Amino acid sequence: MCGIVGFTGTQQAAPVLLTGLKRLEYRGYDSAGIAVQHEGKILTEKCSGYLENLNRITDNGKNVPGFCGIGHTRWATHGAPTVTNAHPHVSNDGHFAVVHNGIIENYALLRAELMEKGFVFHSETDTEVVVHLLDLYYTGSLKQAVMKTVARLEGSYALGVVCDEHPGELIAVKSASPLILGVGAGENFFASDVTALIGHTRTVIYLEDGEFASLTPEKITVYDCGGRELQKPLSRVMWNTEAAEKGGYEHFMLKEIMEQPRALKATIEPRVKNGEIVLEGFQLSDEELQGINQIVITACGSAYHAGYVGRYIMEELCRIPVRAELASELRYSNPIINEHTLVIVISQSGETADTIAALKECKARGARTLAIVNVVGSTVAKLADSVLYTWAGPEIAVATTKGYTTQIAILDLLAVYMGHRLGRVEEGRYAALVEGICALPERCQRAIDLNTQAAALAEAFHDKPSLFYIGRNLDYAVCMEASLKLKEISYIHSEAYAAGELKHGTIALIDEEQLVVALACHRPLFEKLISNVKEVKARGAQVLAVAQESERRIFAEADQVLLVPECDALLLPIPEIIPLQLFAYYVAKFNGCDIDKPKNLAKSVTVE
Ligand code: G6P
Repeated sequence: MCGIVGFTGTQQAAPVLLTGLKRLEYRGYDSAGIAVQHEGKILTEKCSGYLENLNRITDNGKNVPGFCGIGHTRWATHGAPTVTNAHPHVSNDGHFAVVHNGIIENYALLRAELMEKGFVFHSETDTEVVVHLLDLYYTGSLKQAVMKTVARLEGSYALGVVCDEHPGELIAVKSASPLILGVGAGENFFASDVTALIGHTRTVIYLEDGEFASLTPEKITVYDCGGRELQKPLSRVMWNTEAAEKGGYEHFMLKEIMEQPRALKATIEPRVKNGEIVLEGFQLSDEELQGINQIVITACGSAYHAGYVGRYIMEELCRIPVRAELASELRYSNPIINEHTLVIVISQSGETADTIAALKECKARGARTLAIVNVVGSTVAKLADSVLYTWAGPEIAVATTKGYTTQIAILDLLAVYMGHRLGRVEEGRYAALVEGICALPERCQRAIDLNTQAAALAEAFHDKPSLFYIGRNLDYAVCMEASLKLKEISYIHSEAYAAGELKHGTIALIDEEQLVVALACHRPLFEKLISNVKEVKARGAQVLAVAQESERRIFAEADQVLLVPECDALLLPIPEIIPLQLFAYYVAKFNGCDIDKPKNLAKSVTVE
């Protein structure tokens, strides 16, 4: 959601801002704008729709002069995605411009107060109160005006500010929304995330909530909310520019599907030493581990689906009750969680608002918390007691692929590690599972290579109005993700159904129009699943099955088959999702959809 960039230096700001915004496109947005200081004035350009429009009206930034400015991609919350509602917002006297990510919860009260004082509002946004407050409190010191403004705000916000009376200076404010400072040579930057910075610098400063910074081309000064100067460490970003580019693929999603063997290797390999799993981020002592009597996994979207897979594996190996809960539900559910609960929070971005809220709720109840996160220094990573990073690299496509599979890889490692430490996974099984996990990158590559027919199958089925994904046990957990993948990028309705549950109502919908994708990889329940396949075929549905490559029986039952390489039953979900990611990708492609930026979706959902 909303992306922010800021630049101050000696090169023209607008082209830098527009390239930065381009790199943040993946976050999801529906309007965009920039504001640049020039000769004692602030020049603003905004558009509705995609950045192409802004590039067109500014000739890729060339016709907006000036060396210091801010930019924004807006994902509409308060007010439609119009030019007027697009950021930056400018004060009535034209002295200030502001970009904002997050929600100002008390904006209605502030708006009424400011209108009474004579400020004129042009937009429907919550953000506009910020720019008028700055104007109200400004008496020559930008720092003081920012502090007084921020003291009035409730909610979540990352802010970028420019003032025409302070040439070359940017202000960045962070409170519960992501914002990172980029340190250059004779130029400095800020952005919502590192992908916008890595083309310019890999040296960054992570702001904490409540901190703000003043940036000039030569200097970055960070303050706490009381205005006291802070000494902040510089961090080095490991991601590189190539990782955030398409590298010859038509879409980021396809590139990221293909990158999965590498991402899994990067995630798994450093954690297995001499046949032993080593989890440096895991901080529970043996005694504390023995004291855990339930595990709660919480997350949103695909991260929740990864958690749902983890639930089966962890319960099987640790013999502790495990439940997976949607973070948006858990946070308001008065959950039974205490110091004997291990809460595992999963998030690719580490900035999902509901996930952060659920994590805080569980911490407040005394739970031990462990985060599985991809983005270093993100809010979830900072809040949890322990962090295990997925080393997937930047994920740009809105529909997650390598984010999801690397999350499962960490859950696999964690389940085997904990089960072993608890004495519930005996040595032989432990060694086999560790070996199986280490083979996952290669299994994943095999799953890609085995399914060159995914595109042809997608072409055959791309005009189906609706699909069912059915499976049992781990197959069912994978159905949830496969169904979401198809929905979010192709806009085709689909449902994930526990195969045994179909007959309790939903089978009424099955007819010759339906395509049923039957996941039949879980060998212990293969026969049961085949009974369900027969049920839907008897009602005319076509069946596309997903089965392990040695499972020849499937060819007698299904119309078409996608193949998954042989693997330990508990480790199958990673190779199993691969053909289904490819299938969803090609269906969306045959339907002419905007695969990397699906309508209405955001990569990082930073509001509730
Ligand atoms: C959004 C994304 C999904 C993602 C979910 C959770 O809805 O579009 O792909 O799974 O947020 O995001 P997180 O960053 O917490 O994993």
